[in-house]
Amino acid sequence: MEWKWKTIIEPFKIKSVEPLGITTRDERKTVLEQAHYNLFNIKAEKVLIDMLTDSGTGAMSAAQWGGVMNGDESYAGARSYYNFEREIKRLTGFSEVIPVHQGRAAEKILFGVIGGKGRYIVSNSHFDTTRANVEFSGAQAMDFPVKGALDFGKPAPFKGNADVAAMEKFIREKGAKNIPLCVMTVTNNSLGGQPVSMENLKAVRAVCDKYGIPMFLDCARFAENAYFIKLREKGYNSTPVREIAEEMFELADGAWMSSKKDALVNIGGFLALNDKDWSAKARQMLILTEGFNTYGGLAGRDLEAIAIGLQEVLDENYLQYRIRSSAYLGEGLLKHGVPIIDPPGGHGVYVNAKKFLPHIRPQNFPAQALACALYLEGGIRGVEIGTLMFGRRDKNGVYQAAPMELVRLAMPRRVYTQSHIDYVIEVFGWLARHKKAIKGLDVVEAPPILPHFTAKLKLAK
Ligand code: F0G
Repeated sequence: MEWKWKTIIEPFKIKSVEPLGITTRDERKTVLEQAHYNLFNIKAEKVLIDMLTDSGTGAMSAAQWGGVMNGDESYAGARSYYNFEREIKRLTGFSEVIPVHQGRAAEKILFGVIGGKGRYIVSNSHFDTTRANVEFSGAQAMDFPVKGALDFGKPAPFKGNADVAAMEKFIREKGAKNIPLCVMTVTNNSLGGQPVSMENLKAVRAVCDKYGIPMFLDCARFAENAYFIKLREKGYNSTPVREIAEEMFELADGAWMSSKKDALVNIGGFLALNDKDWSAKARQMLILTEGFNTYGGLAGRDLEAIAIGLQEVLDENYLQYRIRSSAYLGEGLLKHGVPIIDPPGGHGVYVNAKKFLPHIRPQNFPAQALACALYLEGGIRGVEIGTLMFGRRDKNGVYQAAPMELVRLAMPRRVYTQSHIDYVIEVFGWLARHKKAIKGLDVVEAPPILPHFTAKLKLAK
């Protein structure tokens, strides 16, 4: 439907509600201390607006809940599997559809098949579980983000793109035989949820063809990416988003998806591809670690909900609302002088804490300090992407400054309304006026691998 009004509305009404965790500042101060200034250690019921992630936190539709009741829980050959397979084939065109319980299970299986020592996987940017699974297989994960992707304050339409020339140079240096895969992450989560253009996908495809390297999509947020192409790329403004998404998949040899994002469900994923040899090996691993070919670690009801969600997510009224909500939050923050990755990505807004809190050194974790202040003052939970998450220390145990200090405010799908977002903007306005009072943090203890999940911190002296 063509929308001629300035106000973009939530294109749904609410049938079932869940109370928010309303707490006092004093309570939150205690919660924060008990959680050792690590927001992963906080009980969700003590959070008012939870922007930790958009993964698995969305609201399902009435149609999806109806599908849940229709789920066929047969071990083998369940009707729900065939609904799931049909929708994925219709969207992606790939012949082999392998269900998994979430995105990283697909990554574990795929890189178990094609990874290994001496091999390299090239990408616009690997998401952190992707990188971890590539490296766990013995291979190396190489990122080639487009120039300007780290220029957070400088708007550009497709900051998720790959630097094609740099990628090709690397392929030539290392030899294509050592590079079993190129993966394009759409949208590019690690660098702000920024979209990849069709032109860039085509250019990467051409390089892959030249060297005989398969190209896959990590398509967790494919619909958001396709909608950005419609909005921003020449020649697509009257193309239906479904056709744009299909064109993206046509360029690829395979894809995997964390369905917890753009399939609008709370759990699930898939690996889809054409290569019969890879898929046969992947199915062996699937049966070993996930489950039989027609359920792969999911219940029949989950498969049913994914099949429906994959159709709903391509509704352009939904996507208009979705992309408008992150833009709205971004505009609100910019009005208060809060620096962000500009323009905002599809699934949330990333605040540049390095710029916002210049008085806190990287060794005192400015992004983590900001995330804690946001919780203390407003009960809002975001996530640090910075020196704590990257967790690199020198031989004396001193933290090495990460290239970025960001707080990601991820937006769960169909969960919060505009007044929730107005509230977040208001809290940020207050923080912007009182930011000098925000103190840095010191690590008390942290494990070497993925430290941000379990690290304990305290206020710096
Ligand atoms: N790929 C991308 C681009 C992702 O964003 C994620 C998860 C995964 C793969 C892994 O999928 O969680 O289902 O195993 N991203 C979540 C996030 C965790 O918060 O951004 P998973």
